[in-house]
Amino acid sequence: MIQNQWYVILRSKEVKKGKPVGFTRLGENMVAWRLDDDRVVVQSDICPHRGAALHQGKLMDETIQCPFHGFEFDASGACQYIPARGKTVPPPKIFQVKTYPSQERHGYIFIWYGEEQESYPPIPIYEELTSGFDYADYAESWTVHYSRAIENQLDVFHLPFPHRTTIGRGNRVISDGPLVRMVGDEMQIWVYSRKEDGSPARKASELAQPFRPPFLHFRFPHLWQNHISDDFRITVYFTPIDEGNTIMYTRYYQRMVKVPLLGWFIAWLSSIFSIIILHQDKRVVEKQLPIKSDFKMGEKLISADQPIILYRRIRKALQDGKTIQEINAE
Ligand code: FES
Ligand SMILES: [Fe+2]
Repeated sequence: MIQNQWYVILRSKEVKKGKPVGFTRLGENMVAWRLDDDRVVVQSDICPHRGAALHQGKLMDETIQCPFHGFEFDASGACQYIPARGKTVPPPKIFQVKTYPSQERHGYIFIWYGEEQESYPPIPIYEELTSGFDYADYAESWTVHYSRAIENQLDVFHLPFPHRTTIGRGNRVISDGPLVRMVGDEMQIWVYSRKEDGSPARKASELAQPFRPPFLHFRFPHLWQNHISDDFRITVYFTPIDEGNTIMYTRYYQRMVKVPLLGWFIAWLSSIFSIIILHQDKRVVEKQLPIKSDFKMGEKLISADQPIILYRRIRKALQDGKTIQEINAE
């Protein structure tokens, strides 16, 4: 995993008032619950007393009560009450539940995964999609390391094979370029594919400058956007559950049809089509070996793999503790 980043860990609708939810993300057991004023609290699901799962406990006024011995923890993680010691005895500070800095935006719950900081960078989100679009929402888990799931969506030349009956129709097997750029914290990819015509694939340097926005975008650590057109986009947050499982929080946005309900229906229809496409990938990607990718791993890559090479290089540098600014300046 890449440390010191914001990650989507749940959708807002999955955390309801009055009921804590337990789940695993980023290899850690977590519990999420809501305060009366609607704020979301995300904490370790492991009670510091003797390891019971807090999500099995009860929500009190502003605290979560452990199901085992009733210790109560507040939104900051501090223990407020140890019933066995009596109301008049203040709990010692060592009974602290790990509490993740969290934010809720546009129907997603984000946590900061890493060291506490005085101030945090902005959360990764496409602001232009937060108004004016209808969207359909979908989440699905794959038994893959997150790197393989992300690389699948950065892979620009597999379409004629697993997707030959859907988006890969037409046998456009030749992949010119692709053009790949890093702009701030975002990878931008322009895709050029064509049929075999006897001429070899052209290098990125031989391609004309693009006249349309990039087709694929990827913002570290885990947000991908397919810019199908200005009015139709797909986004995915690839969230690691653990080293072998990844959940994909997917949205299908459209603003071609502006009639309420019909607009949502169009987005929903496209989500159904996209799920079929996703499953064409799933059967291949879940069998890829080794389980996770790395910057140096012995795969024999070709120039059409350029987006994957760049992803691996930047991920490695971020894992080594560099910032995007430092990486871009190299
Ligand atoms: S294990 Fe949680 S209070 Fe004892
Ligand atoms: Fe695919």
